[in-house]
Amino acid sequence: MHRRRAPRSVCRTLGTSSKTPRLTMSDPIAALRELLSESRVLEQADDLEHYGRDWTRQFPPAPRAVVLPETVEEVQALVRWACAHSIALVPSGGRTGLSGGAVAMHGEVVLCMERMHRILDFDPVDRVLHVEAGVVTEALQQAAREHGLYYPVDFGSRGSSQIGGNIATNAGGIKVLRYGMTRDWVASLKVVTGNGDLLELNRDLVKNATGYDLRHLMIGSEGTLGVVVEAGIRLTEPPPELRVMLLAVPDMDALMRVFGVLRARLALTAFEFFTEQAMGHVLAQGGQRPFEGEAPFYVLAEFEAPDERAQEAALAAFETAADEAWVVDGVISQSQAQARQLWHLREGITESIAPHTPYKNDISVRVSRVAPFMADMQSLFDREYPDFEVVWFGHIGDGNLHIGVLRPEDMAMDSFTEACGRVTGLLCDVLEKHGGSISAEHGVGLLKKPYLDRVRSPHEIALMRQVKAVFDPHGILNPGKVFD
Ligand code: MLT
Ligand code: ZN
Repeated sequence: MHRRRAPRSVCRTLGTSSKTPRLTMSDPIAALRELLSESRVLEQADDLEHYGRDWTRQFPPAPRAVVLPETVEEVQALVRWACAHSIALVPSGGRTGLSGGAVAMHGEVVLCMERMHRILDFDPVDRVLHVEAGVVTEALQQAAREHGLYYPVDFGSRGSSQIGGNIATNAGGIKVLRYGMTRDWVASLKVVTGNGDLLELNRDLVKNATGYDLRHLMIGSEGTLGVVVEAGIRLTEPPPELRVMLLAVPDMDALMRVFGVLRARLALTAFEFFTEQAMGHVLAQGGQRPFEGEAPFYVLAEFEAPDERAQEAALAAFETAADEAWVVDGVISQSQAQARQLWHLREGITESIAPHTPYKNDISVRVSRVAPFMADMQSLFDREYPDFEVVWFGHIGDGNLHIGVLRPEDMAMDSFTEACGRVTGLLCDVLEKHGGSISAEHGVGLLKKPYLDRVRSPHEIALMRQVKAVFDPHGILNPGKVFD
């Protein structure tokens, strides 16, 4: 990260008070430097590029500045500054999003929360940890461990994603099957609305039947209704020992049958799948193939193993599935190091395909619809993507599939995005047939915005617009995301 001192404004050099209304009106960025210190207003090209984008690569970043507040009061002042100057703000966490929700491409100011990374306090009776929005997921998980407890929401981007961003997208990840989404762990929220007011929502209450729960309206609103500045996060008992089983599956149809067999016998904490192509990309960057031969699909199942009986149940489940020819090979971890190696085969996928600037589909159906949905999707992709490599993986135990379509090296980004966008339109027909959603856990942002009306009714979208106008009357909070 680069920090440079930005040049002082001319007015300031001449000794004019920078707090005069005239300066504020004529030079909004100079006014920003007065609100924060100069070192916390970034305008260098590489900073704008770095902070102006998320992990989505389709949208060229072009913010006018990046600001780094350190307190709730500073966030409130920045929002009021944005209202006064009609300048849009893009709230920004770890920028690990995959739908362009944190991209600033129209001269917005990026409101980067990375300096608000304090872990505030913990109440052992309530088991609630208060944190600032910029706390990184992994730091939160570590803090939970230090209190002898567990924060179960987990994903591959745990080392850089921030809790504020996780809340803004209602992040899911690899343990949703057992522990639910981020929403399920937020006991309270402090949020700055679009006119700079601070809302303190729910105060960590387990029960609170006093009208609309605005906390849940804020969760998943992608920074369009308010800026999350602090959160009370509920923690839980750590799980017993976890084991990981990797199974080789001969055909798509067998995937959910294997799920049925394992779920009936084991306390599953994760049920993930990926294809041989996906594993090939991970292994190309290092690591060891767990089986001698190849299979078209793999299932990674994690389960609670408090004693030897769980391992025996896992072996019995494996044998049942093998007798039916639903699995052809399998391994079970015997140590945490082995479990980590197996998880790497799944968690390494996103990074391993990133150089191909994939177009991402992040879709969900009810668990009962996964098998027929996948079959329909395969026909669609075989027909529509004959020349592109399509990498399938995801959290099928909760009905969520990720499809990464890799960009051919010689294809321009615009033509590639257009081609994938057309197929996504057709995918919406398949989703409609199966009652699914175009975004399961990555949010709508910019990437899925064209398809929102395929999964939400015009009446719902009109109500969402009205809700936005209530919380963000000046339209300065992440405008153009989710809907126009
Ligand atoms: C994952 O589950 O690995 C992520 O949601 C990321 C992705 O879709 O690449
Ligand atoms: Zn995911």
